[in-house]
Amino acid sequence: MAEKQEAKLTLPDGKEVKLPVIVGTEDEHAVDISKLRAESGYITLDTGFMNTGSTKSAITYLDGEQGILRYRGYPIEELAEKSNFVEVSYLLINGKLPTERERKDFGTNLTRHSLIHEDMHNFFAGFPPTSHPMAVISAMVTSLSAYYPDSLDRDTDVSIHITRLLSKLRTIAAFAYKKSIGQPLMYPKNSLNYCGNFLHMMFAVPSEDYEVSPILEKAVNQLLILHADHEQNCSTSTVRMVGSSGANLYASIAAGILALWGPLHGGANQAVIEMLEGIQKSGISYKQFLEDVKSKKDNTRLMGFGHRVYKNFDPRAKILKKMCDEVLAHLGVNDPLLDIAKSMEEVALKDDYFISKKLYPNVDFYSGIIYRALGIPTNMFTVMFALGRLPGWIAHWKEMVEDKDTKIGRPRQIYTGDKLRHYVPIDQR
Ligand code: CMC
Repeated sequence: MAEKQEAKLTLPDGKEVKLPVIVGTEDEHAVDISKLRAESGYITLDTGFMNTGSTKSAITYLDGEQGILRYRGYPIEELAEKSNFVEVSYLLINGKLPTERERKDFGTNLTRHSLIHEDMHNFFAGFPPTSHPMAVISAMVTSLSAYYPDSLDRDTDVSIHITRLLSKLRTIAAFAYKKSIGQPLMYPKNSLNYCGNFLHMMFAVPSEDYEVSPILEKAVNQLLILHADHEQNCSTSTVRMVGSSGANLYASIAAGILALWGPLHGGANQAVIEMLEGIQKSGISYKQFLEDVKSKKDNTRLMGFGHRVYKNFDPRAKILKKMCDEVLAHLGVNDPLLDIAKSMEEVALKDDYFISKKLYPNVDFYSGIIYRALGIPTNMFTVMFALGRLPGWIAHWKEMVEDKDTKIGRPRQIYTGDKLRHYVPIDQR
């Protein structure tokens, strides 16, 4: 990390402030304004943090113009093809690929910690069957801190909590689904690996044998890898912000789950399917729908398109489009929603509205169609995203707490309200 260059800022009163320039390993440049207010009284204003780096981080490199995404230096394409989700989780959290021994131990620990406290089953019973599973899983993750109170101690060894969380979120997610459809909860099976065990808990029933399909297992592995980290996105920044107050791991991750839920972030995969179903049911053509998007009729957006950072293509969407064709062909699924999605993509990519605004399919455009083909219900899509993003959130939380320069996250503001005025008694208003 070089720190040689300097930028100069001239303020309205003519005062000049010198600001150091920070250069990252991939030659990304930033003007370091950390002393700006102390030296000048000025702050910066950047709504939506379009230009603001909140931290230095060694976890994920992303170049939105080139469509590059790397975890700890490894290209997403290589990891999706050659690795699996457990190994990628280890990589993100520990900063290196595991040796054979490390990978085995990590996997064994995840297997051993998959059960949740039996009392927690009562919580599932307390939610109405119509509850959105994101509400259930966020509450359950917060509740884990009550079952492991040593997690509240900031000097505790956090590695056991990391293992528990990685293992148990999978169980919690599957239990939330089973409860919502009124089926008995299926306990995890230690003979299965991470993704196979998840499929077992989701789709097995006590009255029948269930065999995990290797194709489905591979698809889930790849989907989770593609979602595993994405540097300082809305939910990850939330995890860091909440964690910066000293909040425990479970509380910080629960906050990230809630930030992910919104339709502009992880909730977009559900929103894409709802949009496609809406087009199908309403009988309007997809071309008319695109016209409505372009004229911003009722603030309609083409869900699954556009990204704050990717302005050329989303490398995850490229992998997913191919995977979508393969999975559907393998399962013999013919999904009319896929036809609508493909036609819309084709037209949108040639349309000046989308070209000029640099709007391309993102990770959520095709993932929902794959989840549907795998038999995962629509309201569980964002839960799948959360399951995938979990190691990334954990890696960022850990990086933040281990960084001696971390400070509580506390942005400033420009106040635009009333100037000083004095209280008026109610009978005089
Ligand atoms: N459909 C139609 N117009 C769009 C879309 C879209 N999907 N996305 C952006 N625009 C337009 C927007 O109306 C604006 O137009 P104008 O300049 O005329 O006001 C312009 O493009 C810039 O949009 P923005 O909202 O200022 O851009 P942003 O960087 O703040 O938002 C985004 C990024 C992802 C929230 C946005 O593109 C969007 O809402 N996409 C649909 C939701 C979605 O798919 N989200 C998943 C993102 S990928 C998963 C993840 O990592 O969370």
